[in-house]
This record gives sequence, structure tokens and C-alpha cells, in this order.
Amino acid sequence: MFNIVIFGAPGSGKGTQSDFLVKKYNLIHLSTGDLLRAEIAAGSELGKLADGLIAKGEFVPDNLIIDLLANAIDKNSGASGFIFDGFPRTVVQAGALDEMLTKRGMQVDIMLNIAVDNNELVARLLNRGKTSGRSDDNLEIIQQRLRTYEEKTMPVIAYYDKQGKNTPIQGMGTMDEVLARITNAVDKVKK
Ligand code: AP5
Ligand code: MG
Repeated sequence: MFNIVIFGAPGSGKGTQSDFLVKKYNLIHLSTGDLLRAEIAAGSELGKLADGLIAKGEFVPDNLIIDLLANAIDKNSGASGFIFDGFPRTVVQAGALDEMLTKRGMQVDIMLNIAVDNNELVARLLNRGKTSGRSDDNLEIIQQRLRTYEEKTMPVIAYYDKQGKNTPIQGMGTMDEVLARITNAVDKVKK
């Protein structure tokens, strides 16, 4: 069992790098953003609530997202490990993740903290917005997402710092360069 938290601002490359890592390390990718977009597509109650919040660049309440993630873990009980992408995004969620993993005899092994300059984040998301169809990939909401990240999500770094799991990754450069930095960091921790 090996569990990764992939962490970083909107556009830092969490989803992109997760796609590479699931293949290399045989992990299950759990992106709370993707799970919420699936709820929206399915027209569920959670999806209806999430639709409005995502379009404003605001967060879904902690209790709802914590239940969503716990269910996703339990649906994949045979997994050899997980990549948690977009979760935890608040300190409350970080505590809840530890609790839900401990209950299941698991733990977070490494937190990859991908750092990308703000102007590069905006450029990447605007570019993605040309084809993504995502309601939050426009300049006004990108700027709101970056503010929400700074206010609510950056404090999560200190949480993992205290546990000795915060692993800064330089996220500027090509996808392959970033992947090489990440695999180097993971291989130091993974037995
Ligand atoms: P979520 O879907 O998680 O969005 P996000 O965190 O804003 O991050 P993104 O998915 O936009 O970026 P990414 O880091 O995955 O980058 P990517 O690899 O795509 O969440 C959306 C919303 O859902 C939230 O705002 C919130 O409302 C809600 N939500 C989700 N989780 C929640 C939670 N836990 N609690 C409460 N609410 C929650 O890359 C971006 C682009 O850059 C792509 O086009 C990619 O091709 C390109 N790119 C990637 N790497 C590089 C590179 N090295 N060089 C050039 N381009 C690159
Ligand atoms: Mg993503």
C-alpha cells in the first residue's frame, strides 16, 4: 500500500501528473473535482449543489466532500494505493483523511506539493478553458480559485510539514521535467 497526496494550486498539474503516476506505480487516482463533475453529470443532489459552487470558484462543504471521498476509497478496496488529487483542500479535510485512512489501516506516505508561478497557472487554465468545457476555466473564476486556494488550502501545507511529509516539487518546466522530479521524490520514500 502506498498513498500519495498530490497538492498544488489550480493548474499546477495535479491531474496531469496523476495520469502518469497511476501507470508507473499502479495506483487508483481519486480526484474530488472529477468525482464532483461526475455527480453533476449524473444530476444527483450533491451534483446540483456542487454545480453552483464550482462555477463560483467556491468549495463544497467539508462534510459532503469527506463522505464522497470515503465512499470512493471503499469502492476500490482492493487497490494497492491511492493518489488523492484536490483533497485535502482544507485543514479539516486533512484531519478527516488521516482519520479515514487510519480506520482502514492505511496512511498518507508522501505529500507532493507542486509549486507553479501564478501567471503560469492563469495561462495554463485559460488555455485549457478553450477546450475543457469547465465552468470555472475563465479569468474571473480562475482568480477566485487562486484566492480560495491561498485562504483555505495553503494552511494544509503546515499540517503535512508537521508530519514530515510535505515534499516541495518545482512545478515550472515541461510535464516530463516535473514528472522526473516527482518520481525521484517518490522513489526515495517508496520501499
Ligand atoms: P479541481 O477539479 O480539483 O480543480 P483545481 O484544484 O482547481 O485544479 P485543476 O484541476 O484546475 O488543475 P490541476 O492541478 O489538476 O492541473 P492540470 O493537470 O489539469 O476542483 C474544481 C472545483 O471542485 C473546486 O474549485 C471546488 O469548487 C470543488 N472541489 C474539488 N475538490 C474539493 C474539495 N476537496 N473540497 C471542496 N471543494 C472541492 O493542468 C492544468 C492545465 O495545464 C492542463 O491543460 C494541462 O495540460 C496543462 N499543464 C499541466 N502541466 C503542464 C506543464 N508542466 N507545462 C505546461 N502545461 C501544463
Ligand atoms: Mg485537476
